[in-house]
Amino acid sequence: MALGLSNMFFHRLVFASTFIVCCLETFTNGATLGKDEEEALRSIGSALGKKDWNFDIDPCNKDSSWVDPSSNKDHANNVTCDCSFNNNNTCHVTHILLKAQNLSGTLPTDLASLPFLQEIDLTRNYLRGNIPPQWGSATQLVNISLLGNRLTGSIPKELANLSSLTSLVLETNGFSGTLPPALGNLPKIQRLHFSSNNFTGEIPETYARLTTLKELIISDLNGAEAAFPQFNAKLPELDRV
Ligand SMILES: *[C@@H]1O[C@H](CO)[C@@H](O)[C@H](O)[C@H]1NC(C)=O
Ligand SMILES: *[C@@H]1O[C@H](CO)[C@@H](O)[C@H](O)[C@H]1NC(C)=O
Ligand SMILES: *[C@@H]1O[C@H](CO)[C@@H](O)[C@H](O)[C@H]1NC(C)=O
Ligand SMILES: *[C@@H]1O[C@H](CO)[C@@H](O)[C@H](O)[C@H]1NC(C)=O
Ligand SMILES: *[C@@H]1O[C@H](CO)[C@@H](O)[C@H](O)[C@H]1NC(C)=O
Repeated sequence: MALGLSNMFFHRLVFASTFIVCCLETFTNGATLGKDEEEALRSIGSALGKKDWNFDIDPCNKDSSWVDPSSNKDHANNVTCDCSFNNNNTCHVTHILLKAQNLSGTLPTDLASLPFLQEIDLTRNYLRGNIPPQWGSATQLVNISLLGNRLTGSIPKELANLSSLTSLVLETNGFSGTLPPALGNLPKIQRLHFSSNNFTGEIPETYARLTTLKELIISDLNGAEAAFPQFNAKLPELDRV
């Protein structure tokens, strides 16, 4: 009898300590996103019209409301983080991929509030409005795709500040105006896709300085042929024009 009781007590003790160990483990393995970046995501989601991000769950915990494992090159619904900061205790958002998600809002102004964001891909949605000039402050951005939306206005010259940018895809929107000469200063750009918009004017001479460029896809510029700089001579890397 006495033996049985203490046995039961022992079992409960084991159960309780297993529970504590398991919870501590979850806690210590569960690096989280800082409040400031969470706020930035809320505001980004609200601008885009992304209604199903679940903020009751940490955005970096790989829950299905934040990453969809079936995401592929055509459809994607992924927020991904790098959680290796501060000895694996702190996460930062590095990629936002929302391709073909029926988003009908506008572009968020505050990408710079995600200071580790490298890629934003909003391909094939119904987004409208302009590219906010404030995107020029998100200087860690590597890839931007806005392909196939309903965006308008001109390309803000501030994007010339994106010193890490390798790919800027603006194809198939309603962008207009002239191409900013300042983009000729982008030090790492490899891909500029501007076709199927309403751009006017010439390709700026300054683009001949883009020695890292591999693909420049531009159509329907007025007088493009006459004004086309001698790219092939000057740009050894260029594969497609
Ligand atoms: C989206 O995230 C999931 C889970 O991390 C990953 O398996 C998948 O490859 C990602 N897809 C894309 C297109 O990034
Ligand atoms: C962080 O986690 C990774 C993968 O689990 C591990 O390889 C690495 O050693 C960890 N780093 C630190 C500083 O704990
Ligand atoms: C987008 O809308 C279409 C048509 O209503 C629907 O078939 C599709 O599932 C929607 N996609 C997403 C990701 O919600
Ligand atoms: C672009 O960079 C210049 C100088 O580096 C800075 O003065 C300016 O405020 C930046 N603009 C934006 C929109 O970040
Ligand atoms: C940028 O896009 C290219 C081509 O899709 C990809 O290989 C690269 O990993 C991306 N870079 C980042 C930082 O996401």
